[in-house]
Amino acid sequence: MTTAPRLDGRVALITGTGGGQGRAAALHFAGQGALIVGCDLDAESAEETAAAVKATGGQMTTNAPVDLGDSAAARAWVERAAAAHGRIDIVYNNASATRFGPVDMLSDDDWRFTMRNEIDLVFHVTRAAWPHLAERGGVIINVASMAGHIGSRTVPMLAHATAKGAILAMTRQLAAEGAPHGIRAVTISPGIIETPGTTAQLTDPAVRTALIAQNLLPRLGLPEDVVGLAAFLASDDAAYITGADFVVDGGMSAI
Ligand SMILES: NC(=O)c1ccc[n+]([C@@H]2O[C@H](COP(=O)([O-])OP(=O)(O)OC[C@H]3O[C@@H](n4cnc5c(N)ncnc54)[C@H](O)[C@@H]3O)[C@@H](O)[C@H]2O)c1
Repeated sequence: MTTAPRLDGRVALITGTGGGQGRAAALHFAGQGALIVGCDLDAESAEETAAAVKATGGQMTTNAPVDLGDSAAARAWVERAAAAHGRIDIVYNNASATRFGPVDMLSDDDWRFTMRNEIDLVFHVTRAAWPHLAERGGVIINVASMAGHIGSRTVPMLAHATAKGAILAMTRQLAAEGAPHGIRAVTISPGIIETPGTTAQLTDPAVRTALIAQNLLPRLGLPEDVVGLAAFLASDDAAYITGADFVVDGGMSAI
C-alpha cells in the first residue's frame, strides 16, 4: 500500500474543463498529484477552472477556446501539451455536446452536430495523443453514457444514444489496439448527473422527482460521483483493467 497521491506527476489531458464533470475532474485529478492540461470551447469558464485548481495548490494549464471537433485544433492542443510536459500519461475524453429530438424531427444538421461533438472529438484527441501514450504506456478514459446502453421512452435521444453507443464500441477497439503498447482504454457510463449540461432539463421539480424515482439511491448524481472513479481507473491501482465499462447511475439500470 502507498499513501502517495494516486496520480503523482502524471500528465493528464482533460477535455471540456469549463464546467460540470470536466471541472470536477480537473480539481480531483490535480488533488491526486496530476499535472492537468485542460481545454474547452468556452474560454472564460475554462480559465475559471484553471484558477480554481491553482487556488487549491494544483497545477493546470488550459487552452481555450479550442474546438475539438476540428481535427487540426485538437491535434494542436495535444501537441502543445506534449511539448510543454514531454509526455502524456492520461487522456480523459469528457467533453461533448448533443442535440435532442425524435427521429422524424432530427435535421441533418442536428445529426451531424451530435456525431461531430460526441464522436469525432474523441477520435481526434485520441489519435493525436496515441504515439505519446505509446511511448511509456498510458490510459484513455472515455465518457460514454447509460444512453449508449438503454433506450428511453421519455427522452428523444436518438443521436445521443447512437453516439454514446459508438464511444463504447470505439473504446473496446482502442483497448484491443492499445494493449500491445501498454495503453489501457475504459469507458465510464454516467446516469443523470447534475451539471451545466443538464440544468435546463432538471429545473422542473416534477422531472427531478420522476428521475430520482428511477434510481435505487434516492438522488441525482453529482460530478464528484464520477471523477473519483475516473481517478482510480487512471491510476496504477487499475493496472489490470482495460476494455471495460463502468456504470455510475445510482442503481437506475439495476432495476
Ligand atoms: N450530465 C449527465 O447527466 C451525463 C450523463 C451521461 C453522460 N454524460 C457525459 O459526461 C460528459 C460530461 O458531461 P457534462 O454534463 O459535464 O457536460 P457539460 O455540458 O456540463 O460540459 C461539457 C463541456 O464540454 C465542452 N465542449 C463541448 N463540445 C466541445 C468541443 N467541440 N470542443 C471543446 N469543448 C467542448 C463544453 O463547452 C462544456 O464545457 C459528456 O461526455 C456527457 O455526454 C453526462
